[in-house]
Amino acid sequence: MHAVGIVAAAGSGLRLGADLPKALVPLAGRPLVAWSVDALRAGGVAEIVVAVPAEQRAAFARALSADVRLVDGGASRTASVRAGLDAATAGADLVLVHDAARPLTPPDVVRRVLAALADGHPAVVPVLPVVDTTVVVDERGAVIETVPRASLRRVQTPQGFDRVALTAAYALLAPDADLTDDAAVVRAGGVPVVTVDGDERAAKVTVPHDLATAELQVRR
Ligand code: C5P
Repeated sequence: MHAVGIVAAAGSGLRLGADLPKALVPLAGRPLVAWSVDALRAGGVAEIVVAVPAEQRAAFARALSADVRLVDGGASRTASVRAGLDAATAGADLVLVHDAARPLTPPDVVRRVLAALADGHPAVVPVLPVVDTTVVVDERGAVIETVPRASLRRVQTPQGFDRVALTAAYALLAPDADLTDDAAVVRAGGVPVVTVDGDERAAKVTVPHDLATAELQVRR
C-alpha cells in the first residue's frame, strides 16, 4: 500500500495574530509546517504534497526539504486539499490529509490511521472525547440546551482515506464548497467514516495560547 500525505498549509495566521502564514510561524525555531511534514514521515508516509499560499511559495520551499511537492492552495481549506489531491502521484492508493497547524502529532496517531485503512476502512479519523459540558446557545448567547457529551468527539488529523473514495467525493462537491474537514467531504458522498484514538499532543495551533502550549511540549 502506498500512502500520500497532503498537508493543508494555505491558511492565514490571523487568529494567531501572526503577520506571516500560520504554517510558517516558528515553533522552537522551525516552521509549523516542517514539524507537520515530519510527523507524517515519522508515522510512515513517504510522499508528501503541501498546499501553500501561492504568493508565499518561495518561503515554503526554503522551509521544507526538496522532496516535498508544493501546490498553490485555495481560498478555503477544502479548495487547498482539492489542489493537493490533484497533484498526488497516480501510484498512491491511500491519502492522509493533515493540518499544518497540528505540528506535534505523534507518529502513533498516523500509524493507527494507516492500520485502520489497511483493515479495509475507506475513511478514518482520529478523535478525542469531549470533556467540557457542551451547550447550544441562541444568537444572544443564552443557553438553549445542554448536549449530552458521551457520544460527542473532537476530530483531529491526519484523516485517512481510500484514494478512490476521497477523489470521488471531491468530484461530487460543489466547486465553492467549504467544509472544515475531509471526513465531512466523504460523508457527503455516502462513505462511512470510522474513528481511532487521537492524542492531545496533536492539538491544533489556532490562538497564541496554543503556540505557547506547543513550545512547552517541545521543551519537555
Ligand atoms: O483555519 P484552520 O486552523 O481550521 O485551518 C486548518 C488547516 O487548513 C491549517 O493547517 C491551514 O493552513 C489550512 N488551510 C488551507 N487553506 C485555506 C485555509 C486553511 O490549507 N484556505
